[in-house]
Amino acid sequence: MMTENVNPKDILEWYIWAGVEETCGDIPFDIGKNEPKHETVKQNASILRPAINDLAHNVSGACKSALDVCENVSTLEELKAVVEQFEGCALKHTASKTVFGDGNPQAKLLLIGEAPGADEDREGVPFVGRSGQLLDKMMAAIGYSRQQYYICNVLPWRPPGNRTPLDSEVAVCLPFLKKQIDLVDPDFIFILGGSAANSLLDVAETISKMRGHWFEYQKTNGKKAKVLASFHPAYLLRSAGQKAKAWNDILRLKKAINDENSAEHY
Ligand code: URA
Repeated sequence: MMTENVNPKDILEWYIWAGVEETCGDIPFDIGKNEPKHETVKQNASILRPAINDLAHNVSGACKSALDVCENVSTLEELKAVVEQFEGCALKHTASKTVFGDGNPQAKLLLIGEAPGADEDREGVPFVGRSGQLLDKMMAAIGYSRQQYYICNVLPWRPPGNRTPLDSEVAVCLPFLKKQIDLVDPDFIFILGGSAANSLLDVAETISKMRGHWFEYQKTNGKKAKVLASFHPAYLLRSAGQKAKAWNDILRLKKAINDENSAEHY
């Protein structure tokens, strides 16, 4: 596998492109045969380390380039075009469509999910598959259609096989999400699932602990949005017993929005 004329950085990039997230050693080996000799492992590790450093450097370059391209953007249409042209995230090459936000860009409520799934990747619209249909029903139960909110994902491209996004992918795409938040300028953000909550709020906490509590998100205009996180609808489809808690979160969200609306009328 590790031949003289193959650049280890290319191999690593290929693995990341293909969606590999973890390795259990520095070199592949057949567990049915002898384990690799310690010296070989050390030797390959010393080849790979600079390649890993290079890759980290590439990620920070891609983050900077995402930030740079967002600088001159002043509308959602411009942002969508910039995201579609962006080449700094390998997920773009395994996805079939860029999935940008949907709904009402003037709405005061923004919903944020993790990343497109297979249906969204096919249609180019967030939350149109089974979990989106459940979400639509839950939001409809409090009187909200997509005309009353805007919805997007942390990542605009589907990770292969719906795997959890890598930290590097989140880091590269976060400037696009933050710009989208600035342009929509919501008062309330409802985050769906732990991965999206951890990414936006920059915390490492389980969704079971975070849900039901209010957080704050500081927009670049200096104003703050009130943030509530809850279970991802895909999780609710697998764990129907948690639906009651998610329903409480949605009711809490609705009450806070209503309270704010009635305060504005006095
Ligand atoms: N799950 C998400 O997080 N986002 C989608 O758009 C669809 C499923």
